[in-house]
Amino acid sequence: MTANNAMSIACASCGETLSDRTPHATCPKCDGLLDITPASPPARGVELQKLFDARASDYAMRGTAIQSSGVWRFRELVLQTDDASIVTHPEGNTPLLHRNAVSQYVGIDSLRMKHEGHNPTGSFKDRGMTVAVTQARRCGATAIACASTGNTSSSLASYAAHAGIPALVMVPVGRISMGKLAQTVAYGARTLLVRGDFDDCLRLVRESAQSLGVYLGNSLNPFRIEGQKTIIFELLQQCGWNPPDWIALPAGNLGNTSAFGKALREAHELGLIEKIPRLLSVQASGAAPFAHAFAEDFANRHRVRAETIATAIRIGDPASWDRGVAAIRFTNGVVAAVSDEAIMEAKSVIDASGVGCEPASAASVAGVKALVARGVIKPGESVVTMLTGHVLKDPEKILTSDAHSPHPHPSAPIEIDANLAAVERVLKSVAN
Ligand SMILES: Cc1ncc(COP(=O)(O)O)c(C=O)c1O
Ligand SMILES: [Zn+2]
Repeated sequence: MTANNAMSIACASCGETLSDRTPHATCPKCDGLLDITPASPPARGVELQKLFDARASDYAMRGTAIQSSGVWRFRELVLQTDDASIVTHPEGNTPLLHRNAVSQYVGIDSLRMKHEGHNPTGSFKDRGMTVAVTQARRCGATAIACASTGNTSSSLASYAAHAGIPALVMVPVGRISMGKLAQTVAYGARTLLVRGDFDDCLRLVRESAQSLGVYLGNSLNPFRIEGQKTIIFELLQQCGWNPPDWIALPAGNLGNTSAFGKALREAHELGLIEKIPRLLSVQASGAAPFAHAFAEDFANRHRVRAETIATAIRIGDPASWDRGVAAIRFTNGVVAAVSDEAIMEAKSVIDASGVGCEPASAASVAGVKALVARGVIKPGESVVTMLTGHVLKDPEKILTSDAHSPHPHPSAPIEIDANLAAVERVLKSVAN
């Protein structure tokens, strides 16, 4: 990062530069991906750590919404703007959890889970959405739209409602969880059930942004990436600016993989960290074009017709491809694919530890287990996995394995008569 007094936005493909209040989320000339270079912060290294640390302790409990946000705490590295334009719940400040059962399951002594499901709408998307909707307000957008597998639409609907900007969302009909659909509708977004898959929805929303002038809220939008960088900044801060060896995350459209790579690059350039952790991006094996490409050293871009139980990452043609490749290369990272069975097994361990997450999130834990088994991650290394969404996001995947199904959930509900003897019988079986 070269020293610069103002944020700059440029197309990664053709070099076109845009104003910081641009209503375009992709390049108006060639539709390429836009890159943001933040303005130089007022300090570097330990001084910058001190600035962020002081805010964390001073404002966490008693600050204004902006001051207590785990995104806007890092505002110098996110978006420089006046307080009045910021649309925040607040968000962030998510916990870093350790559970013996999950550590033992993957075979790592020091496994921690950063639970982004603790964000206001239950997923990490709120980190990017607070910034994208703030930008929508800054550029005077009259409507904001996204394609979604459910979490982006929930987040966009909520932040757009907060900002008073109409929201339009496109989701694949019958292919998103009931929890996410209900949440999106509840927050008041105009919801279109598209007869197609996520990749069709994204194509349609991109066309709408180009032809109908709506502001694009997907992670193609570089302001989303700027917000999602704070997952890493906050994690580094929680680790006392001493990074883990590995950071694992589930990967679909590659927005988050891109944000993590960019955050680590900037943190390193600004002297916030010395060591660069390795990223592990994990896809479901039925939706793994990025993992296939990694196996060929990214010689080709792959597209697949995606199928997986983890609906949040059922994406066959990831939009942030080039940014994702850059993130893996910069961090000497790895991309892995795990089966639906491995995802659901990992989820059951995370759920039974009392932490809980949605299926896509469990892919990161399944991926760590697979890499430990392959000897790529060593048991003594420190690993942080991202739990990207809350357990309540996808209740069907828990309750459809009811007591009558061939593989009932170990704690499937039991119907009883309304008397104490029935309760006692159950209690005995639980205690045994
Ligand atoms: C819970 C969850 N995890 C992971 C992802 C994948 O993130 P990305 O599309 O940025 O790769 C998503 C995307 O919708 C998600 O909702
Ligand atoms: Zn361009």
